Amino acid sequence: MTDLRRLGAGTTPVRENVDRALFEREIVPGNRPVVLKGLADDWPATRLGKRSPQALADYIKRFSSDRPVEILLGPPSIRGYFFYRDELGGVNFVRRQANFVAAVDKLLSFIGEASPPALYIQSAPIDDYLPQFGEENRVSLLDGTVAPRIWIGNAVTVQTHFDLSENIACVVAGRKRFTLFPPEQIVSLYPGPLEFTLSGPPVSMVRLDEPDFERYPKFRDAIASAEVAELGPGDALYIPYHWWHHVESLDPFNVLVNCWWSGSRPDAGSPRDCLLHALIALRALPPRQRAVWRAVLDYYVFETHGDPAAHLPPARRGVLGEPTPERLAQMRAMLAGALARSARPDERQRRPAEKP
Ligand code: FUM
Ligand code: FE
Repeated sequence: MTDLRRLGAGTTPVRENVDRALFEREIVPGNRPVVLKGLADDWPATRLGKRSPQALADYIKRFSSDRPVEILLGPPSIRGYFFYRDELGGVNFVRRQANFVAAVDKLLSFIGEASPPALYIQSAPIDDYLPQFGEENRVSLLDGTVAPRIWIGNAVTVQTHFDLSENIACVVAGRKRFTLFPPEQIVSLYPGPLEFTLSGPPVSMVRLDEPDFERYPKFRDAIASAEVAELGPGDALYIPYHWWHHVESLDPFNVLVNCWWSGSRPDAGSPRDCLLHALIALRALPPRQRAVWRAVLDYYVFETHGDPAAHLPPARRGVLGEPTPERLAQMRAMLAGALARSARPDERQRRPAEKP
């Protein structure tokens, strides 16, 4: 695999002894990835993982419920690298339901094989699959309301993507290499389709094992602002919101616990839905008109000039006012009606000019 540091990428800074106060005061506001060295060193799971994969697997299996879990399974020929195939004609792996314990046992049985299939239990909610494991192995930097997830696999690679959340990823067993790119590098990462993705968010079309600079020349700019973080058992990584990350699991048995959380209101919905609507409503405008909306969104949404309703009497701020549950419900109803009407343009043309 290409270590992008050989091509000019930097190294993520490492901090030791980060406690919750320091995390909230410095690390999160810093808005840069940071390796949190040894954050999970004293977890029972980490200690057992250092003893052997078998010892850790036995411990994990003690907590396991009988629920089937989704696994990603790829043939040996992909060498662990989950990706598209045939020019986006499909993907090079399948998703299957498996028994959690049987999947862990399968992983153990692959250890020592020269070219095993790729197998990944990806982001399984710990409260659902391993009740009580979370109590014994707690991410001390977050309050208990953030639900942890577990990732168990062999030497798999997760293609460069972003999460619509803040992320703390704690390596329990095995080593991982994260290659990180700031959100604004979207312009140099050649994102894939928005809806046909590998698992949720879009991924970069540029593979890191064999970057195709002829096809993706701007990727060199992405490398210039990339950074690499190498983590061993017990180390954790803070990945700020929307930072792109490519994740290589480097050993035959890797376990990671991560927490995703968002600073947004739980009832805000997803910015992805907003992007979808913008693709319908804004992209169709002539470029001159579309450019106007950049200024309008800056004013109303990004609040580049402060509160856009500050000059209005509070009772008359309408959708710009306090986002109470009632107001949000009203806005959603307006939007649902507008979307339904915009799907019937003929009818829309027959209506008298819209009132503002
Ligand atoms: O494979 C991984 O550990 C991926 C983690 C992530 O994308 O957050
Ligand atoms: Fe991720």
